[in-house]
Amino acid sequence: MDLDLTEQQRAARDTARRFAREKLASSGVETDRTHRFPTEIVADLGRLGMLGIFIPERYSGAGLDHVSYALTVEEIAVECAATATILSAHSSLAEWPLLGAGTERQKESFLPAMARGEKLGCFALTEPQAGSDAAALKTRALRDGDYYVLNGTKNFITNGPQASVAIVFAATDVAQGHRGLSAFVVDTSTPGWQVTRIEEKMGIHGAHSAQLSFVDLRVPRENLLGEEGQGFKIAMQTLDGGRIGIAAQAVGIGRAALEASLKYAGERQAFGAPIAKYQAIQWKLADMSVEIDAARLLVLRAARLKEAGERCTMQSSMAKLFASEAAMRAALEAVQIHGGYGYTREFKVERYFRDAKITELYEGTSEIQRLVIASNVLGTR
Ligand code: CAA
Repeated sequence: MDLDLTEQQRAARDTARRFAREKLASSGVETDRTHRFPTEIVADLGRLGMLGIFIPERYSGAGLDHVSYALTVEEIAVECAATATILSAHSSLAEWPLLGAGTERQKESFLPAMARGEKLGCFALTEPQAGSDAAALKTRALRDGDYYVLNGTKNFITNGPQASVAIVFAATDVAQGHRGLSAFVVDTSTPGWQVTRIEEKMGIHGAHSAQLSFVDLRVPRENLLGEEGQGFKIAMQTLDGGRIGIAAQAVGIGRAALEASLKYAGERQAFGAPIAKYQAIQWKLADMSVEIDAARLLVLRAARLKEAGERCTMQSSMAKLFASEAAMRAALEAVQIHGGYGYTREFKVERYFRDAKITELYEGTSEIQRLVIASNVLGTR
């Protein structure tokens, strides 16, 4: 059921589905095995307009909405979660803050090349000592004439090694705590931008997560995003949208686990019948189906609110929390349904299991999503 998707939204979903089946079904396996960044696939995404889905056409984007974006991420994630990570970090974490908080000049300078896929984006908030407690970041930005000079270290930055444009958060006034943080658009070819490590991870191998160091990185004053002191708010608003992308990615991984399980359960014989005949398996398949559908509905609600320009903090946290935990459960059950084969590389379900886990961690752990939801339902936010 399409639940009132518009023709345009269905077309975006179908284009992504076709592309994923044709290109990612095999390249996803290769990307996972080699850990190689999928350069050609990312170029394809750019050509198809998928790297600028919700960017208006006047900045060379596809001019679609956040629902189309979420549906696209889901389809891509069904075949390759790493590619979905690259896409969503670029779109919701790097393009959106430019669109939402950038000046006209900043939008014109950065968005067209990003939307066409000529320049990839990243979002540099997290630091070694500041993950869940994002306001505890230590990177400093000191004013020096028409420049800010940035020094500090960032951790786990998706697309860090490949990005040409980065949204970087740093303290311009340490005494003000979270109200002293500011956001900057940084051209990563600037001297002082260093990629110091690429993490070896459990999953999403093709999406590279980097440690970055800034050593006297000089950023022009005109690249301040919003005003001084607005950085934390910009980061939180960005994550409201980013979490919708991660939730959609989780729906895609969960769906992949379910589809693989349905196929296997129909083929695998035990005790004289396909295992799909047994209630033990049927109940797992039923629970997986319900949870994935419910997760998608939460994603679509959050995406519609985002598109309407309404605050969606709680709804995007609910979508991410539920979808990521549903994806993890689905992947776990998919391995169980596949038995010993599920633990081997012969089947894709072991990858789904490894890829699903990250959705419970990045862009705010499940514990952080519960805090956000609780503070909203309690009315303390
Ligand atoms: N929208 C707008 N404003 C918001 C907001 C939102 N969603 N959330 C908070 N704010 C505002 C508050 O209104 C408050 O404003 P005032 O200055 O007027 O008081 C201010 O921000 C501070 O709010 P809190 O006191 O609630 O902030 P906190 O320090 O307690 O932190 C938190 C809240 C929810 C725990 C937040 O720190 C958080 O989301 N942590 C997780 C960080 C995270 O998700 N990191 C992921 C990084 S990106 C990634 O993983 C992927 C990658 O590729 C790098």
